[in-house]
Amino acid sequence: MQMLKKTLTISVISIAMVCGACSVGEKGRKADAASAAAPGLRDGELAVPANYRSWPVFLADIDKVKAKQIRDIYISPAGHRTKEGDEFPDGTISVMEIWNPKLEADGSPEMTSDGKMVKDSLKLIFLMGKSKDAGAMVDAAQRTGDWVYAGYKADGVTPGGPDTSACRGCHVTQPDKDWIFRYDEYFAKRTTEHSSY
Ligand code: HEC
Repeated sequence: MQMLKKTLTISVISIAMVCGACSVGEKGRKADAASAAAPGLRDGELAVPANYRSWPVFLADIDKVKAKQIRDIYISPAGHRTKEGDEFPDGTISVMEIWNPKLEADGSPEMTSDGKMVKDSLKLIFLMGKSKDAGAMVDAAQRTGDWVYAGYKADGVTPGGPDTSACRGCHVTQPDKDWIFRYDEYFAKRTTEHSSY
């Protein structure tokens, strides 16, 4: 009886210790889960994450003068921890905002003195999410690992932009970059940022 009591006390203590550690870990895990693509999604099913503007900036102020668009790209925190040369982990979400620039009376984009366009209104929100096992549901010719695609209008709810087969048609050309066009530029920028600490 004495023995049993002792064992019980020890296991109660160890449970308490495990849970103490786990409540902190769980918060972190919950935050990451809210910022992650669920497994097994199809194109069009990934929703705009509520908090993406608080995520790390992947690249900002990309001017597409001919297309009259300015683009800002954000990456989910877990994706931002990826080492250069690695693939982004399952659950990573990339969010690209596409902005209309301010236009001159003749319809050409207004330019600042240093040659940048100026944001006017948000036009579209494009998403890529790495959804575990999603690639297996896509034709091999259109497969871009486990990434899935979704496009929305500025309200973040109404579907918008080209059909998701068009997204794949462009991104499928980047197999060496984990299908992320600006992979090299992102890591180059991140390295510069970190070396300035
Ligand atoms: C005409 C080719 C083309 C199409 C179509 C296209 N993309 Fe992209 N996408 C690009 C390029 C190029 C970039 C890099 C940023 C830039 O230069 O605009 C990019 C960047 C992205 C990014 C940021 C990550 C990265 O690769 O750098 C996301 C997210 C994205 N696209 C999602 C989509 C979605 C969703 C669709 C369809 C609704 C789509 N794209 C359609 C060419 C394309």
